[in-house]
Order: sequence, then C-alpha cells, then structure tokens
Amino acid sequence: MKIALLAGDGIGPEILREAVRILDVLRGEGLKIETEEALVGGAAYDAHGDPLPAKTLELVKQSDAVLFGAVGGPKYDTLARDKRPEKAILGLRKECDFFANLRPATVFPELADASTLKPEVVSGLDIMIVRELTGDIYFGQPRGVTGEKPNRVGFNTMHYTEPQIRRILHSGFRIAMARGRKLCSVDKMNVLETTQLWRDIAEEIAPEYPEVALSHMLVDNCAMQLVRNPRQFDVIVTGNMFGDILSDEASMLTGSIGMLPSASLDGNGKGLYEPIHGSAPDIAGQGKANPLAMILSMAMMFRYTFGNEEIAAGIEKAVRAALAQGLRTADIAAQGTRPASTAQMGAAVAASLQSH
Ligand code: IPM
Ligand code: MG
Repeated sequence: MKIALLAGDGIGPEILREAVRILDVLRGEGLKIETEEALVGGAAYDAHGDPLPAKTLELVKQSDAVLFGAVGGPKYDTLARDKRPEKAILGLRKECDFFANLRPATVFPELADASTLKPEVVSGLDIMIVRELTGDIYFGQPRGVTGEKPNRVGFNTMHYTEPQIRRILHSGFRIAMARGRKLCSVDKMNVLETTQLWRDIAEEIAPEYPEVALSHMLVDNCAMQLVRNPRQFDVIVTGNMFGDILSDEASMLTGSIGMLPSASLDGNGKGLYEPIHGSAPDIAGQGKANPLAMILSMAMMFRYTFGNEEIAAGIEKAVRAALAQGLRTADIAAQGTRPASTAQMGAAVAASLQSH
C-alpha cells in the first residue's frame, strides 16, 4: 500500500499529523504501509510558484490513495485563479478522475447535543451524500468575466455529459444498495435543463436497481428538508455544486464541520481522502483544530480503497471511544469546559486503537 500525504495549508499539517499517528499504530501492528509527502496548495505555491506541481501530481498517480489535509488561505486570495490553492484540489479531482465523492454525515451518540439542532431531530442520523466532482459549473466552459466597468458580465456554464451523469448515479444506486436502499436524487429541474437531463437519466437507470427506492427532490427543498427532518434521507446523489453546498449544511447536523470525512473515488477504487472542512486559517498552528474528520477520512480509505473493513471500523470505534471518554476539541466542546487540543484528541484515538 502506498499513500501520498498532502498536508496543504492552514490546519492541514496539524490534522494530518494526527492521522499519521494512527497509521503508526497500525504499522506497529504489522501493517505494511508506505507513505510519501508532497507539497500542495499555498505551500506548493510558496515553494514552487505552482499549487499543484508536476512532482506532486506524479506522486498521486503512483500512489494507491491520497490523504489530503486542506488548502487555501487569505494571503492567496488575490492571486491569479490558476495559481490559487483551490486549483490544486480541483486539478487533482479532474486529473485523476476522482468523480465520486462520498460525504457521510453521521451523528455519534456522544455528540447528539453538540448540534445546533435539537437532539430529537438529529440523533441517530446516518446519511450519505454522493457528490459528483468532475463536471458541472465548476468546470464548464465558457467561463469568465468580460467587458468594461460598469457593464462587465460574469458567466459560468453548468455542463454535464450523459456518461458523467450515468456513472455518478450508478455510484449512488450501488451505495444505496449497501445501505438503507433509499436514494434521493437532487436537482433543479424546474429551472435548469442540465438537471432535467440528470433526472431523466436517474429514471432510466432505476429499473436496474429494483430494490432501491428512488425519489427526486429540488435542491432548495432538499436544503430545507435537511434541517427540518434529516432522518428521512439515506443516500443523496447530486451534482458538484449542489453537493458542495448541501454537504456543508449536512455537516452541521453532526455538531461540527470538523467531524465530516470524505472519499473521492475514481472508477477503480483509488481515492483521495480529505475532511470536508477547509484550511481554517483563523485557528491554524494553534493546536485547536479537530483532527477527527481527517482521521475518519483515513478510516474511509481503508474501507473503500483497501477493502479492509476491520481497520476502518476499528478506527471509527477508536474515535467513538475518545469521544466517550469526554474528549472534545473546541468546535464540539460545551461552553465553559476546557477543550482538548488537536494532539490530545489524536493521541486519545491512537491509544484507544492500540488497546484493542
Ligand atoms: C469542498 C471545498 C472545495 C469545493 C473548494 C476548496 C474548491 O469547498 O471540497 O467542498 O468547492 O469543492
Ligand atoms: Mg465545500
């Protein structure tokens, strides 16, 4: 197994360090894992003038999986768009065809009251958002800003090919088959033709999965239903843009965006694993960040790329054990309590994993 470690910017390095601590425990138990680090995002721009250097891309192509921290920061926001840190993650998704993004939102019983929503609305929540990552308005052409003040025009293009839609819908159906067998496809077909095509294809594919109950929902309604009654959902499948927004929304059902892991898979099980949160420059380097989304992303790596459910479940159990001990980083700590540091949380998860 070869894993590329791309820490990136902001809190990326400190949360990835905690994931590596878990890897070290597994190594100690005899698991053979090779890791190699590379620069990405703002850190790579600072060193090489390029947020996604060829060397980094090469390492990713040679690896079985990627653990990715986060990229971005205010000091890069004024750079030309193709030099910005975000270009690195978008480029990796596109270049490696990591099209299927799985974003599970699970409420750990220990954290049912950490959500801003009432515990009776979120407790027991377990939904999976399947987001397409290589198409949509993120990549569609033409795009840009033209003209002169005060009459400039900005434009982006929502664009999906039928094969792109088909393969992500198949991912959604297959994941639903392995879970609660309910798939909700989210679109905006009342306004956007691209998403009418999406809905039509979903209907065409549905007979291939007779055991899955397919439903459709408009994205605005879905945003509302996610806070009204999130437990109605099992698997949500949607495009790049809607999935970006809905997954941030869903993360708060779990108490904190610092808890949400993700997997981005190509068609062969290779994957990039990253927390859904960003680089959080406001708290970077202070040991305050929650490493659990990163650690849970690594659990997903063992599940989806290495097919090792035992290790995946073991890491998830160790996370729950750390929470059950009462450990809380600042984002999930109750007011007036003293939060655990990034390293304390990582160490507690590692210790729990080691003792099992
Ligand atoms: C995410 C992030 C990215 C996205 C950004 C950093 C480009 O918000 O992974 O959800 O929009 O996809
Ligand atoms: Mg996002």
